[in-house]
Amino acid sequence: MARKVIIDCDPGIDDAVAISMALFDPRIDLVAVTATAGNVPAEQASRNVQAIIERLDPPRFPRLGAATFAEGCAGTDNRLMHGDDGLGNQGFVVSRLHHQHPSEKVICDAVRADPHGVTLVCLGPLTNIARAFQRDPELPVLVDRLVISGGCVDGVGNVTAVAEFNMFFDANSARTVFRSPVTKTLVPLDVTRTVRLTLDFLDRLPPETTRVGGFLRRILPFTYRAYHQRLGQESILLHDVVTLVSVLEPALFECTEMSGDVETRGELTLGLTVFDRRHSPQWRANMDVARRADPEKVIDCMVNSLSLAGSAAAGE
Ligand code: RIB
Ligand code: CA
Repeated sequence: MARKVIIDCDPGIDDAVAISMALFDPRIDLVAVTATAGNVPAEQASRNVQAIIERLDPPRFPRLGAATFAEGCAGTDNRLMHGDDGLGNQGFVVSRLHHQHPSEKVICDAVRADPHGVTLVCLGPLTNIARAFQRDPELPVLVDRLVISGGCVDGVGNVTAVAEFNMFFDANSARTVFRSPVTKTLVPLDVTRTVRLTLDFLDRLPPETTRVGGFLRRILPFTYRAYHQRLGQESILLHDVVTLVSVLEPALFECTEMSGDVETRGELTLGLTVFDRRHSPQWRANMDVARRADPEKVIDCMVNSLSLAGSAAAGE
């Protein structure tokens, strides 16, 4: 039985690879894809969601949600690592979508349509999730599970010394979600940064003649160049793809129940995810946190899922 999923994302090349898998993997019924600002500004994120789905032309089109500007978010982005347009500067054309609903409304409606039946996979800042919970206060207990890409347990950040990008970008929303009663799993940098993808990964993609293979071969080279030029690394990280793998094959991940919160004021620590790991924790456990996964098995899952996508989306 396919799992009903909403993906909330800020594409973003790693988000785009995750969406490519979710659109075609038979284990997922992708109900909606909702955009949020993060890697790129709100309007660009909305355009990118639409561009990805129009380009891949899946058998079933998910509902789309539009990102809207969020007050109080960090005035930053990730365009150095994803391109000015967020998709490797490939200039994908989108048809004009009229009357797009805001992401938080799409999330509320999709969860209400199937109470306790929808997994919400969060691949970007948690702005829309916090808004959806504020829009519909009962929503947290109606979501089957929230799976969140981001945070870090070891305190080694990627956007600052201690903060991971999705938490840093909208720390207030992240705190709202962490403190909500929704059942949640966090897939932090500690795990996603162990899954390093060398250039061999490009050789394992579906053929270029497939829609998915052609699309990924257009966007991924930007990531390899960015990691090489900006970080001096010859392999890349696709954080959101690892998070989606945790939905496709949860048995690949060892998880621990933990109590987490998010720093919302620190000059040096904004967006830091803080966990009570004292011998006798005083905070109540509020999430499952992925702590370990076998990188090779995670990569095999990525390749197998993308291979299914390639077969399903064969030919231009
Ligand atoms: O820190 C990695 C996260 O930030 C990923 O979701 C990436 O797409 C960016 O949003
Ligand atoms: Ca993302």
